[in-house]
Amino acid sequence: MERTFIMIKPDGVQRGLIGEIISRFEKKGFSLKALKLVNVDRPFAEKHYADLSAKPFFNGLVEYIISGPVVAMVWEGKGVVATGRKIIGATNPLASEPGTIRGDFAIDIGRNVIHGSDSVESATKEIALWFPEGIVSWQSSLHSWIYEE
Ligand code: CMP
Repeated sequence: MERTFIMIKPDGVQRGLIGEIISRFEKKGFSLKALKLVNVDRPFAEKHYADLSAKPFFNGLVEYIISGPVVAMVWEGKGVVATGRKIIGATNPLASEPGTIRGDFAIDIGRNVIHGSDSVESATKEIALWFPEGIVSWQSSLHSWIYEE
C-alpha cells in the first residue's frame, strides 16, 4: 500500500492547525501510520531539504523548519502521494485553490504550513529519514474492504 510523508511545519503547529490537517486526511479515507511532534536540528533539516541546497531561499527555509516543533506523519492509502499533494495545494499559497490546506490557511510561500512528498520515491526516502525507528503496523477495517479488488 502506498505511503507518503507529511510534515506540519512550525507555522502550522503555532497556528493550531494540527487537528484540522489531520482531520482532512482522515476524512478523505487515508490511514495514519506514524506521528510525532519533534524539534529538528539544522543538519537534519538540511538533509531533508538537500535537493534544494542550491536555491537562494535554502538558508531561510532551514531556519524556518528549525524555528519550532513540527509534526511528522506517515499516511497510507491508494494514491496517497498525489492525492495528498492535491489536499495540500500548490507550493505557493496564493496559487493554491481554495479548499486546499494552503489555499485556505496560507498566503506566503515561505510560510506554507505543510510539506508532502512529491513522489513515491521521495516518500520512501523521507519516511526512512524521519522514522528510522519504524512505524506502527495496523490496518483500518475500512481499508480491508475498500482495497479488496
Ligand atoms: P515544501 O513543499 O516543503 O518544499 C520545499 C519548500 O521550499 C516549499 O514547501 C516552500 O516552503 C519552500 N520554498 C519553495 N520556493 C520558495 C521560495 N521561492 N521562497 C521561499 N521558500 C520557498
